[in-house]
Amino acid sequence: MSILTLEEVHASYSGGSRVLHGISFTVSDGGVTALLGSNGAGKTTTLRTISGITHRRGTIRFAGTDITGMRTDKIARLGIAHVPQGRGTLPGLTVKDNLEAGAIMRRDRAAVRADMARYLDLFPRLAERATQRANTLSGGEQQMLAIARALMGAPRLLLLDEPSLGLAPKVTQDVFRTIATLQEQTQISMLIVEQNSALALQLADHVVLLENGRIAASGTPTDLMASDAIRRAYLG
Ligand SMILES: Nc1ncnc2c1ncn2[C@@H]1O[C@H](COP(=O)(O)OP(=O)(O)OP(=O)(O)O)[C@@H](O)[C@H]1O
Ligand SMILES: [Mg+2]
Repeated sequence: MSILTLEEVHASYSGGSRVLHGISFTVSDGGVTALLGSNGAGKTTTLRTISGITHRRGTIRFAGTDITGMRTDKIARLGIAHVPQGRGTLPGLTVKDNLEAGAIMRRDRAAVRADMARYLDLFPRLAERATQRANTLSGGEQQMLAIARALMGAPRLLLLDEPSLGLAPKVTQDVFRTIATLQEQTQISMLIVEQNSALALQLADHVVLLENGRIAASGTPTDLMASDAIRRAYLG
């Protein structure tokens, strides 16, 4: 079963630049879809479109609800958390306050406290730095915080835009290892945009290759790796 379905989705920005030209793909419930493609292919725009930030048409369904025309805040409240490219933290606030802010829409305070404990456990580097301001964290720590903050909203689907951006290879591996653990423990569904295709392919059960706002290929990592042409062109 899929939690997210895009059917023939087109998207553009005000000013008229058309970026997505009829893309269709799914994220399975509890699964990970990787969205890959070169710079400017439309990956970030795809995530923004799902979050309701671009002009869009076609059909986007989330957990059985048509969200195509919905406002961004309502889409977030339905259970889609978006970690934007270049991280999503409140720089002047401490780690703990960032996590609290992530849960601001929730009323179940006991569950929020339990999630706080759970994510500080999953991200020990954040636990050690609970009272440190976000803007004094290292790049990798900030990325972890952005993800943990998104999780504090108790989403059903996590949209991750290039979690490895600007990170050293070893730190990138740490971030991916944490994402993999998180996925194993919580079975949260994810749509992950990545330049580091090797790591994304390890994590994903479904891969979508985007080229100039169109889908060039899609399938399981094994399917795509089996094609020499696709491997050479996209998967380095
Ligand atoms: N706010 C905007 N207004 C107008 N055009 C935009 C806007 N944001 C992005 N674009 C254009 O949309 C196209 C796709 O951009 P997008 O950011 O989705 O690419 P991307 O695949 O995420 O690339 P990257 O790997 O570099 O992050 C680009 O040509 C870009 O210039
Ligand atoms: Mg991008």
